[in-house]
Amino acid sequence: MQTVVITGGTDGMGKALALTYLRRGDQVVVVGTNAHKGQAVLDAADTLGAAHCIEFIQADLSLIAENRRVVGRITATYPVVDVLVLGARYYRATRFVTSEGFEANFALFYLSRYLLGHGLVAHLDRADAPVILDLSGPGGDLARIRWDDLQFAHGYHPDEVMGQCGKLSDLLGVSFTRRYPHSRVRYVLLHPGLTATGFTGEYDTASAEVVARMREQGQPVEVALTRILRHLDNPPATPLSAFMQDDAVDTDGEPFDRASAERLSVITANLLH
Ligand SMILES: NC(=O)c1ccc[n+]([C@@H]2O[C@H](COP(=O)([O-])OP(=O)(O)OC[C@H]3O[C@@H](n4cnc5c(N)ncnc54)[C@H](OP(=O)(O)O)[C@@H]3O)[C@@H](O)[C@H]2O)c1
Repeated sequence: MQTVVITGGTDGMGKALALTYLRRGDQVVVVGTNAHKGQAVLDAADTLGAAHCIEFIQADLSLIAENRRVVGRITATYPVVDVLVLGARYYRATRFVTSEGFEANFALFYLSRYLLGHGLVAHLDRADAPVILDLSGPGGDLARIRWDDLQFAHGYHPDEVMGQCGKLSDLLGVSFTRRYPHSRVRYVLLHPGLTATGFTGEYDTASAEVVARMREQGQPVEVALTRILRHLDNPPATPLSAFMQDDAVDTDGEPFDRASAERLSVITANLLH
């Protein structure tokens, strides 16, 4: 039996993944903000006869304190974590600053992934074949990173922010695997393809129209699930790997620049202290 932690496990691909693991008899922890969605996952688990194998942690992962609480809860409850899926997403048409003073996308897509990965690494390393899967979507141009304005204080544009978040996730994968050279954790960055999911977020009229089209054009969640499970069930041999749908992405290439990863790591450590 594996222990699987899924952020964004109350909706979309994360929820489908949670139910798949429950059907297999694994222990699943889902994290999300919405109590109704959380209850729906608990109810679905009950229907599967797996009510004893699911925990819903209601937490806002755009808050540092909440990430630390989640890490504390998981490490206190489960001796081992086999799989950590980083799949929380929230679209914001307009800039929002959390009560802790961070731009919300930067906090949710980057800082949360940083805190959960590092916070759970010791528990992951107790597993036979541990995996961290980040669904942000790898590759792309490093120039997408606004080093002088990482939190988009000026000229906020949601698509640019999302593009940057994907890049920050890539660099996080690089610095994570370099920081734990002896770890058995396999860090996988995957873009599962456009998928018809909840597309959780706050949209304006224009972006709501775009997302409605994306929902129509997106592949069914089951297709994404097959792609995701391919990596989770057969973890890659190398510590860091990346995939655009079914195609491997070269993690020695420019988008995974080590100096940039180190730069981001130093900035992050300073921000969190
Ligand atoms: N769908 C696509 O086409 C696509 C393509 C490429 C990559 N991805 C990536 O795949 C992952 C899953 O996407 P999806 O489309 O399946 O997502 P989704 O259906 O929109 O669900 C988003 C999940 O994130 C959770 N979440 C949002 N804000 C949160 C917060 N502040 N704290 C904790 N949890 C929060 C939501 O839970 P609550 O509602 O309970 O808060 C929900 O479970 C994301 O990382 C996304 O960027 C998606």
